[in-house]
Amino acid sequence: MSEITFALAKGRLGDKIIDMLNNAGLTDVEFDSDTRKLVIYSKDQRYAFFLSKPSDVPTFVDYGIADIGVVGKDTILEENRDITEVLDLGFGKCRMCVAGPKDAVSILNSGRTIRVATKYPNIAKEYFYKTNRSCEIIKLNGSVELGPVVGLSDVIVDIVESGKTLKENGLDVLEVVEPLSARLIVNNASLKVKYEEIGKIVDALRKLVEE
Ligand code: PRP
Repeated sequence: MSEITFALAKGRLGDKIIDMLNNAGLTDVEFDSDTRKLVIYSKDQRYAFFLSKPSDVPTFVDYGIADIGVVGKDTILEENRDITEVLDLGFGKCRMCVAGPKDAVSILNSGRTIRVATKYPNIAKEYFYKTNRSCEIIKLNGSVELGPVVGLSDVIVDIVESGKTLKENGLDVLEVVEPLSARLIVNNASLKVKYEEIGKIVDALRKLVEE
């Protein structure tokens, strides 16, 4: 059995962290990013990597199936699992924003119920609750920008990275909810039981991040 198990999001975040672990000299993983395999191992078998959907990474870590997870802060906030966030990995930087057409600013400040399309219902609900505004959340699973463009919603709560999607659809950032980036998360029991091994990994990655 492997000493340490990781839950990684398939795709860019997963590829990047495997590169970092290899560069830190912690593992030797040959990783073909086109693989359909869901479990891969380091050459010495000490580490196992479970490749899941990004939104499921906190679930595998919460249940202790994975000791460590790598996932965006957006997913951590949305899934709200009982895990410990230990390190900001400094990549995958973007922002969670309220966006919409410029004139939606008046709706945001009108005191009436705001219609919000989003892939992140929990984050959106929490944000409008904290800012003392009432909202109706309309859950979408992608192409969220369509919401205000076709009149389904007043605004969206979504990730903005380059801003290209907003710009091409005539929308603007109206409010910033939270800065986001990839984070290292750890199972609470593993943090105690595998303190040394996990500490070694966190320290090596922190050094790389700070370089
Ligand atoms: C994400 C996000 C925005 C877009 C932001 O969508 O939901 O739509 O990227 O990136 P930008 O600011 O660089 O344009 P994703 O590409 O994951 O596709 P989706 O709309 O299907 O969720």
